[in-house]
Order: sequence, then structure tokens, then C-alpha cells
Amino acid sequence: MDDDMFRHILGEFGLSWRGYRKVRKGVKKRLGRHMTQLGCRNVDDYLRKLAEEPELKKLAEQCLTVTISRFFRDRRVWRDLRDHVLPDVTERARPTVTIWSAGCACGEEAYSVAILWDMYCRNLKNPPALELVATDVNVKTMAKAKAGMYGVSSLKELEPEIRARYFQPSGGSGRFKIADSIRTQPRWRLLDLLVDEPPAQEIHIVFLRNNLLTYYRDSLQRTVLRRVVDSLAEDGYLIIRSHERIPARVDGLTTSDFNKSIVRKSVG
Ligand SMILES: C[S@@+](CC[C@H](N)C(=O)[O-])C[C@H]1O[C@@H](n2cnc3c(N)ncnc32)[C@H](O)[C@@H]1O
Repeated sequence: MDDDMFRHILGEFGLSWRGYRKVRKGVKKRLGRHMTQLGCRNVDDYLRKLAEEPELKKLAEQCLTVTISRFFRDRRVWRDLRDHVLPDVTERARPTVTIWSAGCACGEEAYSVAILWDMYCRNLKNPPALELVATDVNVKTMAKAKAGMYGVSSLKELEPEIRARYFQPSGGSGRFKIADSIRTQPRWRLLDLLVDEPPAQEIHIVFLRNNLLTYYRDSLQRTVLRRVVDSLAEDGYLIIRSHERIPARVDGLTTSDFNKSIVRKSVG
């Protein structure tokens, strides 16, 4: 598949050519294989088939989704969540703190939240309850997330004590299973950010990293992000990647002074 064909397909799905720059090779390969399986001779043929059969379109979406993740990806963010964000939300939000991992891939981010919460709340006298919702559009990654089994590369940013406390080697093949106390925390849901409503309202923290603001086109980013921001509680937090930008004309958000990945919904 050449770049023009790939660009054309990305355009049909509202995806950004620039956002895909680091992963083009692998995604093109997956799409090429799918086209061959369906016996399509060219992109127009392929897109016509996808338009006729929603199930095939879902498979094409799976080829297009980038599902790379890791536990405690970007450690500075997790440190600042522990030092700034959790002290604030556990103080203000009672009886329940709601956290949403939007685009949870194989669950690494949602489970990192559950682990951080467990470690932080151990030291509190009367911690609030946690409602942790993890969503993704990809049915395959969601099944893996629920299983809670990981290869060693997903664990590479973990401190040894965390690994020892929350993971057990499983099956003797370099794979690890997450502790049941953590595995049972998230509520998993298939959800397409482009069309579905957020899974809750008055959410205190939304993780939206390496998803909408990296891979989708600006026009989609604006409408979808508006819906996400509306689901945040006043003073709630939006977590993005440091290279991701809030699109112009999505107002009511302020980047925190301690970490540019941590953005706050402004009061009023
Ligand atoms: C690169 S992973 C990011 C995982 C995690 N948030 C992180 O930062 O490590 C991107 C995830 O977003 C999901 N995704 C892409 N488009 C989506 C959509 N329209 N609705 C919901 N999830 C989507 C993909 O399926 C994938 O699992």
C-alpha cells in the first residue's frame, strides 16, 4: 500500500496523517493484509466493501487502532498525580471519586490507576470510594484487558516493589498476572468516543492519552473533546500526553503549572 492509498483510508476514518507518522509502516501492513483477505484490488473497492458491511468496517478499525501502552507510562505524570491530583480529589470528592480511562487499550493505564489509588489510599484514614471506568473501541484489546495478563515489556516502567506486590509470574513463560484485588477494580465498557456518550457525568479525572488528540483530525478532536470536557466535574482533571495540544476553541481548560500533561477544567 502506498502513502496516497493510506492517506485516503485515514481520511475516510477522520484520522490524521501526521498523528500516524511513527506507526505508519505497521498499520499499512495490517490494512494491506485485510484488503488482500477481502480480495480488494484497490482502495475504492475496499472502502465500498466496508461501507456495505458494518462488521468489516469494525475489522478495518481494529487494523487502524494503535494499541501500544505500558504500566505507569510517563512516570512524571504518575508522580504528579500522586503528589498533586489525588490529594485534591480525595479531599474534595466524596463519597466517590470517578476516574475514566478513555482508550484503555489492554488495560495498562486503568490498572495503573487502581494500583496508584491502592498505594495512596492505604495512608488515608477515611478514603473515598473509587469508581474506575475503562473504555475502548477495540473488542480484542478489551478482552485482553479483562484477562489481566502481560508480557515483561509492559512492566518495564514499574518499580520493583510494585511489580512484586501487584503481579505474579504466570505459566512460566515470562508472563505476569495482575493481582485479583486490582483486576476486579475497573468497570470495562466498549465505547466509541466518536459516537457514544461518556460513561458517566461529573467525572473527576479523565485519561485521554495517545488517542483522540494524537490520531484524529482537528475537526473531530474539537467536537469529541467538548463532550469529554462536559463530562468532567468542575475543577476536574484531564490527562493528556505532553506533545498533545488542546484544540483552539475548546475553552474552559487550564494547563496546570506543575505538569503540562495535567489540564484542569476551570471553574465558572
Ligand atoms: C495508543 S493506545 C493508548 C492507551 C493508553 N491510553 C495509553 O496512553 O497508554 C490508544 C487506544 O485508543 C483506542 N481508540 C482509538 N480510537 C478510539 C475511539 N474512537 N473510541 C475509543 N477508543 C479509541 C484504541 O483502540 C487504543 O486502544
